[in-house]
Formats: sequence, C-alpha cells, structure tokens
Amino acid sequence: MSNLQVIKKKIKPYDKKIFVSGDKSLSIRWVLFSSLTNGKSKAFNLLYSEDVIAAINAVKKLGVKIQTSEKFCLINGVGLNGYKYKKNLVINAKNSGTLGRLIMGLLIDAKKDIKIIGDKSLSKRDFYRIAEPLRKFGAKISLKRNSLPLKIRGTDNPRPIKYFENRGSAQCKSSVIFAALKTHGKTIIKAKKSRNHTELLCKHLGLPIKIKKLKNYDYIEIKKANKINVLNYNIPADISSSAFFIVLTALSENSKLLIKNVNINSTRIGIITILKRMGVKIKFINKRDYYGEVISDIFVSSSKKLKSINCPTYLNSGAIDEFLVIFLVAAKAKGISYFKDLAELNKKESPRLIWGSKILNMMGIKTKITKNSLKIFGNPNLIINNKIVIKNYLKDHRVFMTSVIAALSFGGEWKIYDKDSIKTSFPTFLKKIKELQK
Ligand code: S3P
Repeated sequence: MSNLQVIKKKIKPYDKKIFVSGDKSLSIRWVLFSSLTNGKSKAFNLLYSEDVIAAINAVKKLGVKIQTSEKFCLINGVGLNGYKYKKNLVINAKNSGTLGRLIMGLLIDAKKDIKIIGDKSLSKRDFYRIAEPLRKFGAKISLKRNSLPLKIRGTDNPRPIKYFENRGSAQCKSSVIFAALKTHGKTIIKAKKSRNHTELLCKHLGLPIKIKKLKNYDYIEIKKANKINVLNYNIPADISSSAFFIVLTALSENSKLLIKNVNINSTRIGIITILKRMGVKIKFINKRDYYGEVISDIFVSSSKKLKSINCPTYLNSGAIDEFLVIFLVAAKAKGISYFKDLAELNKKESPRLIWGSKILNMMGIKTKITKNSLKIFGNPNLIINNKIVIKNYLKDHRVFMTSVIAALSFGGEWKIYDKDSIKTSFPTFLKKIKELQK
C-alpha cells in the first residue's frame, strides 16, 4: 500500500448510515481490566488498531492468554496479582500514550524491572507526569529525559497516596486508579474533569471506588480490590473516530448521515456541544445506558450557516482529541473563532495546535497563535483551488484523517502522506469514506 493519499475532488452529496469502529479508550481499558480478572472475559467489537493490539501484546508478555478472532476477543485473566514474566521484560507501547501510562499503574507491584519503550512520537511525550505519583506509591521509575524508554520496578507494599491531577489527564487519573486497586488503604484523587471510563468500569465491576462530582473536579476514593470479576463487554463506536464523519457531513453540501451505536459519554462529547453552538445540526437518536456509558445513534446533516465560537475552556478536555476537525468547521464559520488554554493539545501524538494552525494556513485561512491559544479567521465562502502537500513527519493519525476531511470538504489538489498512520486508531477510515460514495 502506498503511503500517499491523493485527493482531487470534493465528496459528492450522500445520505447514508455507517458503523464506525470500537472506542479506543474503552478497548484498551477492557484489555487491561480483563487481564486482571479471575476467569474468561469476552469483548465484541473490540477495536483492532495498532494501539489496542499493542495493549494485547503487552498483557500477553505478562503471562496472560488471549484468543483473538474477527468477531470477538477472549482474555483469560490471571487475577489481580497473577502477572508472570521473565527478567528484563520489554513492553512496547508503540504510539499509545494511553497504554504506556495506564500499564504503569498495573505494574505498581512488579517484582522485576520492566522496560517500557515506544515509537519516536511516544518517546517524546511526557512520562514524568505519571512517574511522579507512582513513585509516591513506592515504585522505582527511571526515565530518559522525562520520557521513554523508562524502567519501572514495583514494590511489595504499595502505600496509598493523595494525588491532585490538575491537567485534565484521564491517562494519569486512570493509571493511579489501577495502582490504588493493588494498594492497601485508601487512595484519594482530586482530578480535573476528564474522560471517566475507568471509574465507570470500576463501578460496573463492583470495585471499591467512591466518586463525588464537583463543578470542575471529581473527588475519587479507591481501596484495594480483593478480586475482579469477568468483564464481558460490547464495545460501542468511538466518538473520536465518528468526529471525522460528523464534520465531513456538516461541511458537505446536501448530505445526511446516521452513525450507529456511538459512545456519547458526557465526558467525551465536547465536540457535539461546540459544533451545535457553531450551528451544526446534530441529533441523538435512541439513547440508551450501557454499564454506566451512554450509547446513541448520531444524526448529522449539512450546515449552510456556521457561526464562529469563543470556545469555553471547560469544554477542552471533552474535545481534546477532536480539535483538529473542529478547527476545520471554524475555517468555514462566519467570524473569528477563539480556542484557549490548549497546552495539552501540543502534547499529543504531534504538536496539534501548531499543526492544526499550519494546515489552515495552507488552506488560505488566517490564524493567530498566542501562547496556547488559537484564533481562526473563518471564511464562509472558502473554496480551495491550490495544491496542498501534507508531509507529516511525526506520523499523527489524526493529522492525516483531518487533512482527508479538509480535502473532501473544501476541494483543491491534496497530497497527504502517512496513510499508514490510520492503523493507530481507525484502520478502516478510508473504507468508511468509500462507503459514503457507493
Ligand atoms: C485518553 C486520554 C486523553 C486522550 C487520549 C486517550 C484515554 O489523553 O487524548 O487520546 O483513553 O485515557 P490525556 O489523558 O493525556 O489527556
């Protein structure tokens, strides 16, 4: 497969129903929780992307038996303290910050040194943020320039901690929750709002967790788990993957789309709130509860008049993986849109605030970055006639997919490199685009 995607035409109007692949955050968490259960756990619609396969391979290396098939994945859990592995074990988290950080929490009681490595992009990301709280439990962690490769060795007797998570990082919060489940005593977390799948899974599994929700923070108390029951799960579609199709439909002419069975957990739908305020027509149809998560079909149609937004910062965490595509909507909105306090966006698989702004500039849209904020000067008549080349040396899946959506929405002649990067989170992305044109 050539690694280059060429797009020369806007997408034609469509009226379709699609199924998007499984939620990445939930898929990785399912693999990790299931590895600790006493018995066989089964998941349907697990996302088989490189990040999730890396999670499967990681727990396999810790002695967990896993059977994968197209339809389901079966994990033979080894119990809370049952990981078995050889000396000098190396775990490769590849491109996945979620795997790299979450698994460290599970290794809080690791008896031998374990090395965690990752790809070039992950090896530039901040692991100090999670080494710091895990060291307080008693783990020994050595980092290279605050990042990977790192070495972790746990402790026989982890101490409960008090932890203040103030970045809105679900990865740090979840990793500390995992460590706390293996620790005698009560761990207390004050966490800025972020996605809460780990807490919901703990509750569903009946684990000793208490959560008090305040306006901007959650107070979480976790005690040691005695055992974890099997976790059979039907993974809903990923809102982050659906986001590309929501934006494509909003920006295209005379189109309608129904996306089936999407996880619309309230901590993940910042994009919906933002787009609705910008004038995009979106409806939730057939909302239902699933083990604490909320699942719904999403209906979206073309939007003729888009308004700019001064995006409130409390929406940042719930839209953190979607900002690149949200910026495309701002490019076509009337007026100047303003996105503030997005330091975390530059700490993702690539510096996305900078890349997002660069792509808009290539499209002929004026932007202004000050510190960690971005102003986008929208143009409701935006049509692209020039040639655009996106060479993403950092291999960021979301930069690639956002560029494809821009090309199909606004026209121009695009050469977009790093097609392979979609394997990270959404291997069937281009197939789904084709489905819209059948
Ligand atoms: C994730 C949390 C977010 C998000 C990432 C997935 C998770 O990262 O950007 O894609 O599954 O916990 P942070 O926790 O670093 O904000």
